[in-house]
Amino acid sequence: MKQSITQPNGRLGVLLPGLGAVATTMIAGVVAIKKGLSKPVGSLTQMGSLRLGKPSDNNSPRIKDFVPLADLDDLVFGGWDVYSDNVYQAALQAKVLEPGLLNAVRAELETIVPMKAAFDKRYAKNLEGTNVKEADTRYELAQALIDDIEQFKATNGCSRLVMIWCGSTEIYFEESAVHASLASFEAGLRNNDPAIAPSMLYAYAALKCGVPFANGAPNLTVDIPALHELAYLTNTPIAGKDFKTGQTLMKTIVAPGLHARALGVTGWFSTNILGNRDGLVLDDPDNFKTKEVSKLSVLDEIFKPEENHELYGDMYHKVRINYYPPHGDNKESWDNIDIFGWLGYQMQIKINFLCRDSILAAPLVLDLALFMDLAKRAEMSGIQEWLSFYFKSPQTEEGQAPEHDIFKQLTKLENTLRFLMGEDLITPLGLEDFENLSQTV
Ligand SMILES: NC(=O)c1ccc[n+]([C@@H]2O[C@H](COP(=O)([O-])OP(=O)(O)OC[C@H]3O[C@@H](n4cnc5c(N)ncnc54)[C@H](O)[C@@H]3O)[C@@H](O)[C@H]2O)c1
Repeated sequence: MKQSITQPNGRLGVLLPGLGAVATTMIAGVVAIKKGLSKPVGSLTQMGSLRLGKPSDNNSPRIKDFVPLADLDDLVFGGWDVYSDNVYQAALQAKVLEPGLLNAVRAELETIVPMKAAFDKRYAKNLEGTNVKEADTRYELAQALIDDIEQFKATNGCSRLVMIWCGSTEIYFEESAVHASLASFEAGLRNNDPAIAPSMLYAYAALKCGVPFANGAPNLTVDIPALHELAYLTNTPIAGKDFKTGQTLMKTIVAPGLHARALGVTGWFSTNILGNRDGLVLDDPDNFKTKEVSKLSVLDEIFKPEENHELYGDMYHKVRINYYPPHGDNKESWDNIDIFGWLGYQMQIKINFLCRDSILAAPLVLDLALFMDLAKRAEMSGIQEWLSFYFKSPQTEEGQAPEHDIFKQLTKLENTLRFLMGEDLITPLGLEDFENLSQTV
């Protein structure tokens, strides 16, 4: 049965806390695409298609033609940053896109000026921002963010908003009593509890306004009971965390293949060098710890060593990130994978990925903005597990294991879209195969 989905009429405001490399690459890209200067490569919503019915039906529409998503022409961008550079200046500074392309979209980018950030230097010690809100308590900061959201919506004539955290990775810390319920969280805002991170203030403000919130960084942010409660209370979708790009993308492509062939793994060493502002923030051990935890979670879920001890029980997994300014956003990663096959014979796989971090992340931000808006219009509140495809550490309901295998994640995403549109779900064994099978049995 087709679900009732409100049509995407009017403008969709995309609010981005953190107008750094990823956010500016996404915004500049969307403007360039709208001008016909580039193509939205890497964006599933824009370039991807999905099969409906039997393979012989030859019916594989583009996703954007199948589900009612906001049109790129209806997107308006805004955001906050601790630096006051407009999006053109920030994109130049990030050095991801060619000056020629940036000049072609300069006028549009210069109009997007960051609002003052809710910031606490303890959470990102390597940043020296000046474009920062002054307030006595976190409660006042949250109220100021709510005012920003409402004002942005009114000024830009938006009918809907979404928020995607593209800010720096905050330091590692674990959930504590203040995060345990909405009541304790709101008391913590008033008491200015230092355990409430800046990213949580943005998430709280968004959810209070009924604005979907997705977390592109590995911070705790919406991964706490207090904000789950608020999301369900205000019927708002949430998703996270940590965009799945680069090395982890490769991991979740290669690991399911090794597992599928019952090949053993004794070690997986991943290291990389990058020199952008993200790398600078991650150079602090407390911030790196947040990223490390997110990156390490992936392999255990795919290999399930507890179920398959002989093949994966002794696997050693190590992840390093090294700040190396000369490479800027052009991250270079190396993976050494020690595997074994028939009769235990050893083999090695080496992956040397010369990637561009923000080029891989930008389409994910666009897709998440469009899908989170779809989720809101389809009245899907709380954790959007079907969007695990986009994240290194997919958020799940309590007690549920996250799915990391990218192919299973894609199947889940596509089936959710089919379900929303009242189409038959498709498993890897196609409908036709089932029919042939039932005839022969
Ligand atoms: N690029 C990727 O492939 C990738 C992949 C996964 C996750 N991420 C995460 O996405 C985030 C953005 O990455 P990036 O490369 O654009 O980093 P970046 O350093 O270029 O941009 C982050 C921006 O956030 C701003 N910021 C920090 N705290 C803020 C706050 N409290 N309020 C408002 N702004 C704040 C910083 O000033 C900076 O301009 C990082 O957390 C990164 O770890 C990136």
